[in-house]
Amino acid sequence: MRERSLIIVKPDAMAKGLAGTIIGRLQGLGLKLVALKMLRLDKAKARQHYAVHEGKPFFDSVVDYISSAPVVAAVLEGEEAIDVIRKAMGPTDPTRAEKSTIRGEFGLDIEKNAIHGSDSPETAAREIALFFTEDEILDY
Ligand code: TYD
Ligand code: MG
Repeated sequence: MRERSLIIVKPDAMAKGLAGTIIGRLQGLGLKLVALKMLRLDKAKARQHYAVHEGKPFFDSVVDYISSAPVVAAVLEGEEAIDVIRKAMGPTDPTRAEKSTIRGEFGLDIEKNAIHGSDSPETAAREIALFFTEDEILDY
């Protein structure tokens, strides 16, 4: 099924100049870049983005972290895009990720793990709408 996924290049990867590398790696898997922006999340937007984790012990910390510096957000589109991206990302904890994955190669720890990627079509729709208006998602 053709899907869209929201990805975010997180502050640790931004600090290492990896936005282009990470997006390029996903494009190299055949995914199409259909929306792109650089922004710094405020706390309110960060809380919305991570709303499903509200109440968990890491919630305040991950909200502070994702809003601590500019990030690059993008929408990638393609067959099974959500699963393709999750596999390319690797597991949440980079220390447990294969070196061939984005988190395994670039992530620092379970919080500073280089990239966010949507985990289901429902989540993707909600996350994409949080970052992009319909007219910022381009058809080509
Ligand atoms: P989660 O949605 O479980 O992971 P993923 O990013 O792989 O979908 O958690 C969201 C983010 O919260 C995760 O990328 C980093 C942070 N986090 C922690 O800091 N500590 C934790 O124990 C977990 C599970 C997540
Ligand atoms: Mg998640």
